Amino acid sequence: MKLKPVSIGDIKLKIPIIQGGMGIGVSLSSLAGAVAKEGAMGVISAAQTGFYTKEWTTDPLNANLNALGWHIKKAKEISNNGIIGVNIMRASRDYDKYVKCCIDNGADAIISGAGLPIELPKLTEGYNIKIAPIVSSLKATKVLFTLWQRRYKKVSDFVVIEGPKAGGHLGFTADEAINLTSENYDIAAKKRIDYVHSYGDSIGKKIPVFFAGGVFDRKDIDHYMAMGADGVQMATRFVATVECDAPMSFKQAYLNSSKEDIVIVKSPVGMPGRAIRNPYVKIREIENEKINHCFRCLEKCDPSTTPYCITMALIRAVRSNDEADNSLIFCGENAYRLNKLSTVKEIIDELNQ
Ligand SMILES: Cc1cc2nc3c(=O)[nH]c(=O)nc-3n(C[C@H](O)[C@H](O)[C@H](O)COP(=O)(O)O)c2cc1C
Repeated sequence: MKLKPVSIGDIKLKIPIIQGGMGIGVSLSSLAGAVAKEGAMGVISAAQTGFYTKEWTTDPLNANLNALGWHIKKAKEISNNGIIGVNIMRASRDYDKYVKCCIDNGADAIISGAGLPIELPKLTEGYNIKIAPIVSSLKATKVLFTLWQRRYKKVSDFVVIEGPKAGGHLGFTADEAINLTSENYDIAAKKRIDYVHSYGDSIGKKIPVFFAGGVFDRKDIDHYMAMGADGVQMATRFVATVECDAPMSFKQAYLNSSKEDIVIVKSPVGMPGRAIRNPYVKIREIENEKINHCFRCLEKCDPSTTPYCITMALIRAVRSNDEADNSLIFCGENAYRLNKLSTVKEIIDELNQ
């Protein structure tokens, strides 16, 4: 059976799937454009978008903003004006400048996790750009909704609720990320979905909820829709695609991985992350990395105490095929289930039947 379209205000998603933003350099215009072309929402990660340019080493902020603007326009072009979102981590330095860049270059939505994007309504006021937080707990959802309403009279346009099976940084403790079973988390997720919907009902606005974290096939989508979600956000599933912006070595690491290779790692962002346990991760379990240069990417990161430079560890994973073993390869819990390279269209067609 075909998936049911979902509306986010005046935006209509023919396919109720958001492709999760993946930094650094994993979801740029190629992946986001291909996903949006199929009628879902393609999402560009705003994390260090200019890493492959010459100016990035001397002026990272401007290199990143220029590249982000370019990728938004390119994704719009690839998708024939499909729906393009940008994922901006709240923990990023110069958050407000990235938001402005999205507005200036015609992005349709901003999705923000890794911290509560409290000031996002103020930064987007007066513009037709949809905004959504990524939340992992009911408490965070309530706090954000209350603050947005009280300070800005603003209601979230949609919400992404992320569970412990997700990739990248997680809004859970390492223990929860490892030990929370789907069954346990589903009860909590259902409360979150119901809270958002009843909040919307109380003010006469439909706030669609997308569930993220470990959604891999149509059975998973049907499961979360039956729980009341309006759609899902999926990231890991889109990595082993021809269009994914990461190099083949990154995709191959997913294809080669087994369940035991997928582990929880510490991150300078201050939240645990999920990644493939390669030689780099094994070394970092024993000793900290010596930091020679700080890119000032995170608001709270101290180069003298940080276990490693997350920017360089993630960049090495995507800038060439040769550095995979010396890099941090983020992935979701289900990465080991991928066993072949597909196109985005093949995946969407499979999910939509
Ligand atoms: C390689 C990778 C990088 C990610 N980077 C980010 C990011 O920069 N910001 C963010 O909010 N989420 C990030 N995520 C989380 C995804 O957007 C998504 O919500 C999550 O992975 C969904 O779970 P799934 O991968 O099991 O589908 C990342 C995930 C992966 C796999």
